[in-house]
Amino acid sequence: MRNKITVVGGGNVGASAAINLAQKELGDVVLVDVVEGIPQGKGLDMAQMGPIEGYDVELTGANDYTPTANSDVVVITAGLARKPGMSRDDLLLANYEVVKSVTEQVAKHSPNAILVLVTNPLDAMCTVAHHVSKFPKHRVIGMAGVLDSARFRTFIARELSVSVENVTAVVLGGHGDTMVPVTRLSNVSGIPLSELIPAERLEEIVTRTRNGGAEIVKHLKTGSAYYAPSAAAVEMVESILKDKKKILPCAAYLDGEYGIKGLFVGVPVKLGKNGIEKIYEIKLTDEEKAMLAKSAASVQELVDVLKPKLQ
Ligand code: LAC
Repeated sequence: MRNKITVVGGGNVGASAAINLAQKELGDVVLVDVVEGIPQGKGLDMAQMGPIEGYDVELTGANDYTPTANSDVVVITAGLARKPGMSRDDLLLANYEVVKSVTEQVAKHSPNAILVLVTNPLDAMCTVAHHVSKFPKHRVIGMAGVLDSARFRTFIARELSVSVENVTAVVLGGHGDTMVPVTRLSNVSGIPLSELIPAERLEEIVTRTRNGGAEIVKHLKTGSAYYAPSAAAVEMVESILKDKKKILPCAAYLDGEYGIKGLFVGVPVKLGKNGIEKIYEIKLTDEEKAMLAKSAASVQELVDVLKPKLQ
């Protein structure tokens, strides 16, 4: 039997994720959106791409959750995207309502699913989904680090004119301006970055990575990035459904790891058929620890705003 994947949100991120999931034949895909006709139309269009691309999976669209029943993985992309000048945090209250109502439906229809959150502000939205679904922590995972490290890897590869595949990047922390690209542990085919790029230039690349989302919002003007974000979510889904056990940077519920308790923050995790199968706690320098604590504090600030709603 094929896996079943629901993608909630038929906008740019959701639709791109649905196509990508189908092209990889990871399972049948149900695209859900509140706007009547959009998921049905896009689903049918994508299904008709199947004979050309050669994928044999069902692609359907719906406005309700009945057709999503018993999904293995649910990717939640629904919500507002940023406009120029907005930070991810500006989306907090509006997207809280969206993620809350989506998660209620998802938990009801797919009680055993693994949730992959994409909606911003990402780390806070993971808290909402975890709280509302009451799913165990290993089944609620946020997509941020795969995207942030992909941005870092792109810039490093361009800087050195080497293959993006050779660049390994470690990014920790929340999906925000305080994210922590750990340059000490990032490398190019095992060669430390410090031996390849002068410190000052590396700092510029780190800053560009931190602002990577905003850079794209500024270009697009009407929304935020979607090709790389959706591909990042799909890499996570693939590792789960194929039980590949890839180690990927994801937002995970920390219960004391890295000195952080009761908060979703980006850390390296092993993703397999059970969701998060292991959280890797890397030894950090004092400076890195301080940067991570600062990033976690900014996630905590957002969660605190939602606290009265999360009782
Ligand atoms: C970005 C949005 C998706 O980083 O958070 O582009």
